[in-house]
Amino acid sequence: MSQRTLVLLKPDAVRRGLVGEIIGRIERKANWTISALELRTLDRGTLEQHYAEHVGRDFYEPLMQFMSSGPIVALVVEGERVIEGVRALAGPTDPISAAPGSIRGDFGTITRENLIHASDSEESAQREIKIFFPGLA
Ligand code: PPS
Repeated sequence: MSQRTLVLLKPDAVRRGLVGEIIGRIERKANWTISALELRTLDRGTLEQHYAEHVGRDFYEPLMQFMSSGPIVALVVEGERVIEGVRALAGPTDPISAAPGSIRGDFGTITRENLIHASDSEESAQREIKIFFPGLA
């Protein structure tokens, strides 16, 4: 089943020069295509929209601070079961629990700096793609 997902390479990925490595892993998957890509620094309004479901959580402010601490790369990836697939490539939220071979397992150590965001459902993907790429049909 072909799907679309919104992926963010977080400020730690950009700062550490891991953008090429992470995008390479996505590009090498068969039948997946990058259909939009942009480097940008996120303002508070965009972050509030994107992380609306987490308002009030203890990690909300640290997450907002971190996500505005430098440029991110936003991309839309399309293809077979790409929502589940990118999350599998990323590994779980806490990088120490992430298996070697996953992006967080290979490159992360602390939860805040976990390198990548990927939509967790078709509904989230649709909502998030509209925030970052409103022009995409
Ligand atoms: S939940 O409860 O399952 O919805 O939460 P989870 O998916 O694990 O995390 C939601 C997002 O919050 C980020 N997060 C944090 N950021 C900074 N500091 C701390 N301590 C922290 N804990 C969780 C986590 O990486 C998720 O961000 P995204 O961008 O969705 O990956």
